[in-house]
Amino acid sequence: MALFAGIDLGTSAVKLLLVDEKGKIQNEVTKEYPLSFPRPGWSEQEPGDWWRACTEGLRELLRGFDAAALAGIGCGGQMHGLVALDQNDEVIRPAILWNDGRTGEEVEYLNTVIGREKLSALTANIAFAGFTAPKLLWMRKHEPENFGRIEKIMLPKDYINFMLTGVHCCDYSDASGMLLLDVQHKCWSKEMLDICGVSEKQMPKLFESFEVVGTLKPDVASSLGLSEAVKVVAGAGDNTAAAVGTGVVGEGGCNLSLGTSGTLFISSKRFGVDPNNALHAFAHADGGYHLMGCMLSAASCNKWFCEEILHTTDYPGEQEPITEEKLGRNRVFFLPYLMGERSPINDVKARGCFVGMSMDTSRADLTQAVLEGVAFAIRDSLEVARSLGLEISRSKLCGGGAKSPLWRRIFANVLGIPLDMVKTEQGPGYGGAMLAMVGCGVFGSVQEEVDALVELAGTTEPDPALRERYEAQYQKFRKIYPAVKSIFPDLQ
Ligand code: XUL
Repeated sequence: MALFAGIDLGTSAVKLLLVDEKGKIQNEVTKEYPLSFPRPGWSEQEPGDWWRACTEGLRELLRGFDAAALAGIGCGGQMHGLVALDQNDEVIRPAILWNDGRTGEEVEYLNTVIGREKLSALTANIAFAGFTAPKLLWMRKHEPENFGRIEKIMLPKDYINFMLTGVHCCDYSDASGMLLLDVQHKCWSKEMLDICGVSEKQMPKLFESFEVVGTLKPDVASSLGLSEAVKVVAGAGDNTAAAVGTGVVGEGGCNLSLGTSGTLFISSKRFGVDPNNALHAFAHADGGYHLMGCMLSAASCNKWFCEEILHTTDYPGEQEPITEEKLGRNRVFFLPYLMGERSPINDVKARGCFVGMSMDTSRADLTQAVLEGVAFAIRDSLEVARSLGLEISRSKLCGGGAKSPLWRRIFANVLGIPLDMVKTEQGPGYGGAMLAMVGCGVFGSVQEEVDALVELAGTTEPDPALRERYEAQYQKFRKIYPAVKSIFPDLQ
């Protein structure tokens, strides 16, 4: 039976899945790599570390399996990161990641001098600090020598695809997050490229996510012990790949991903833009489009609080004292803006804070406030979607944070909708493997494949009384950011 590898190129680690043509997961490998914060609000990674982790991971993934049966590889990757290659295809500087906040000035320039309306007309989006275009402007100003050496610009997973195949490529979903793509017409915006001082020659070739970009380079194939005939598909941004993995394709589906970032992803067959651009308007991997709200620190808030502050990795142990009667009654609130925030407030200077502590506040109250703060911030994006008239009556849920039953319960009640888990909760990796299967002809379309492979595992229903309590809590949460917003610039 043919095998497929799905790669989830994340921020803390790469997760690889080996999936057979019936969609069954045969093996799973995770390889971590470092993430560096060279200055407050900056976030970088070495593309070489990604590549090493991917190749070691692929070897390990296939150990004990028939490597000759591997037919295709598909990658879902962290979005927006700027990878710049020189004329020898060498990486010029560490990649500047999606959660990097150094481009405040460039974002201001794009949104005010070029203007939000023009950006939205050209790209369907406005500038956010994590997007790729402001990073190019930053590099042009602060590292002109590096900028002058750029031969090719690409996104994180495209670097892996390039190393595997030698093809400079990108798919429409991930390219949407560069602020350089005319999302509606699926081509590079000449005007945006000009604004950023780059040319089309420096941009990767565009593909649909399920299209084959090439096959393994002979040296890569032999070093991995694989056939040169293995096909590599263009893949997708991680949230898009996750939506494929949870079956959120076609019209009106919703997926909530609780990883390092937290995203609310709404699929659509038709192109549409949020008139206020609070939600991103991007291409989907099924040939359609989606709207997405992205908060920068979701599961990473809980990781930060447990590991950095409480010095523990016993997440269930920390959540145990948060009993049912405590839900919806916390007097402590947490703003989860540890890396600034993207959707919907677009504020690179925002920071995290606890509000409402008293002498009887316990450790568990703070942990609960962190879990709730992340859910309230996702609710902010849901409210934007609702204000556009989108009816979201339930959502799929995936990502590391979704493993906590308590957090699932908090989310279902804060959002007020049932949350469905699918059997394979490894969204982006599974989505990557699914795209490879379409590319290799196992399925005729992403929709057909979703219908055949994605199965529900269970649902977390909201509870009317708890939902009401959380509604009142959310209304309090909403007042906090506007009240403290003006002090953040002074804290930098
Ligand atoms: C989406 C975004 C994040 C990263 C995380 O716009 O920036 O979800 O893709 O990997």
